[in-house]
Amino acid sequence: MTTTETSAGVLPVMADVPADELRVAVLGVGMMGADHVARLHSRISGARVVAVSDAFTDKAEQVAAEVPGCRVIADPLAAIADRGVDAVVIASPGQFHEAQVLACVHRGIPVLCEKPLTMDAESSLAVVRAEDEFAARTGRRLVQVGFMRRFDPEYAQLRGLIASGAIGEPLVVHCVHRNAAVPPHFTSEMMITDSVVHEVDVARFLLDEEIAAVTVLRPRPTRHAVAGQSDPLLVTFEMAGGRIVDVECFVSTGVAYEVRTEVVAEDGSAMIGLDAGLVRQTGAPSGAIRSTAIAPGFRERFGRAYDIEVQRWVDAARRGTIDGPGVWDGYAASAVCTAGVEALRSGQRTEVRLAQR
Ligand SMILES: NC(=O)c1ccc[n+]([C@@H]2O[C@H](COP(=O)([O-])OP(=O)(O)OC[C@H]3O[C@@H](n4cnc5c(N)ncnc54)[C@H](O)[C@@H]3O)[C@@H](O)[C@H]2O)c1
Repeated sequence: MTTTETSAGVLPVMADVPADELRVAVLGVGMMGADHVARLHSRISGARVVAVSDAFTDKAEQVAAEVPGCRVIADPLAAIADRGVDAVVIASPGQFHEAQVLACVHRGIPVLCEKPLTMDAESSLAVVRAEDEFAARTGRRLVQVGFMRRFDPEYAQLRGLIASGAIGEPLVVHCVHRNAAVPPHFTSEMMITDSVVHEVDVARFLLDEEIAAVTVLRPRPTRHAVAGQSDPLLVTFEMAGGRIVDVECFVSTGVAYEVRTEVVAEDGSAMIGLDAGLVRQTGAPSGAIRSTAIAPGFRERFGRAYDIEVQRWVDAARRGTIDGPGVWDGYAASAVCTAGVEALRSGQRTEVRLAQR
C-alpha cells in the first residue's frame, strides 16, 4: 500500500475499489446534503451512508438518526480520512469545497461535489491539476461535479436530438431560469454564480464547446427584487464557434420555478421545460381557462435528475471512477462565472480566460 501526505496526515492511497456496498460519507447536511442522505438511504442501490458531518453537530445527529449505522464525524476532513469511508458526497457551502475535494483526491476516493467545484477559476484549476496528476498515475478520475441537469431526461433528450442532426446545426439557445423568490442575502452576483451557473453547464453540455465571452444586461428591476439588486438579468454567452446563448435569470417572479431551454437550429427548433404534464380546463368567472401545474421548486423539477445522477455516481464509484461532469466542467463553469461577475460589474463584454489543459 502506498501513502500520501495530506492536511489530515499520512493516509493510505486506496488501491482497490469496494466490492460490495459503497460506504458513503455526506459532508454538510443542510437542504441538499439531507436530501442526498435520504436519497442514498431510500432510493439508491449499492451504497449506504455510513457517516455524516456538519458544522452543526445537532443537525448531523438528527440526520444520522434516520439512517441505521450512520455515525456523526464532527471534522469533515476526518470523515474523508476515515478507513470505513469509500466515497464522499460534498454538500457543504461552496467555500469549503476546495479543501474537501482535494482531501478526497489525495486519499484517492471518488467524490460527488455539489456545484460550485470551488469559489473561483484559480482554485478550480488547482483541483483540475491535482486530479489530472492522480489520473496520470492511476488511469482513474475521482471528482464528479453536481451539474444534475445533465441527468434530467429532458436535457438528455435535447442533447440527443441535437447530436442526431435532425434539427440541423444549432445557432441560438434561449434559456429561462426563474424562481418565485430568494432569501434577502441573495445578490445579483449570486444570480450568476448560483443560478446562471447551471445554464453555463447546460450550454457547454448541449453545444459541446466552450464559452468564449459573457455579457450581462440589467433590465429595469422588478419592485419585488431584493433591495439594491438587479433582478432580472439578461446574460449572453458567445460560444467559441459563434453560437449565442441567452439567459433570462429572474429570481423574484412570485410565480414558481421555471426552467426552459429552447434550441433554435438551421432545420427546426426544440424546447424543454414546459411542465406540460396534465393540462386542465376549467370554467372561470371571466371565461374558461386551460392550465398546467408548474413545479414549485428545483427539487420537484429535478428530483428525478438527482436520483439518476446519484445512482450513476454510485455505480461508477464502485468501479473507482466517475460517470458525469468532471473537474474540467467544474473549472470551466468557475471561469465563466468569474467572467460573468466581472461583466455584471463593468457592464462590458468580458472574455473567458481558460487555461491550457
Ligand atoms: N445542484 C443543485 O441544484 C443545487 C441546489 C442547491 C444547492 N446546491 C449546492 O449545494 C451546496 C449546499 O447547499 P445547501 O442549499 O444545501 O446549503 P445549506 O446551507 O442548506 O447547507 C449547508 C450545510 O453545510 C454545513 N456546513 C457548514 N460548514 C461546513 C463544513 N466546513 N463542512 C461540512 N458542512 C458544513 C452547514 O451547517 C449546513 O448544514 C452548495 O454548494 C450549493 O451551491 C446545489
